[in-house]
Amino acid sequence: MSDEQTLYQRIGGAAAVDELVDDFYVRVLADAELRPFFLDASVDQLKRMQTEFFAAALDGPVITSDINLARIHQGMGITRKHLTRFVNHLIAAVDERSHIKSRDAMGIIYRIATYSDQIIDDANAADG
Ligand code: HEM
Repeated sequence: MSDEQTLYQRIGGAAAVDELVDDFYVRVLADAELRPFFLDASVDQLKRMQTEFFAAALDGPVITSDINLARIHQGMGITRKHLTRFVNHLIAAVDERSHIKSRDAMGIIYRIATYSDQIIDDANAADG
């Protein structure tokens, strides 16, 4: 199963990740249930951070190593339902890119969804 290229390289590197994140955010911001969360955010800054985050999560270059996802997202009131919609937009954006092999597509979704517990508001999860 070992492959000399990283997932990041296999899907096309920086240009491919940029394009994927752009499309992903078009979908997220077009979703009436998710858009309100982003009203106060700078979308350009957000996309830049997300692009860096995706790169790191896919074993590409690590530019920002100290993003504290829980600190950023806690208190926003994000529920599992919001998270599911968000991830479904990512699945749709990945699916659209036919050059991404299905194994790599699953790898992307899996790696990003791994962070779910840090995103969902603690008030919506069990204490402790
Ligand atoms: C696994 C899922 C998610 C990951 C990995 C993720 C990751 C990130 C990253 C890397 C940033 C940029 C941090 C920075 O600017 O330093 C960010 C910001 C943000 N995220 Fe998420 N996120 C996820 C899910 C969500 C969901 C479901 C929502 C809302 C429904 C959301 C709302 C936001 C908002 C509003 C910001 C901007 C905060 C600000 O600039 O004030 N995120 N996220």
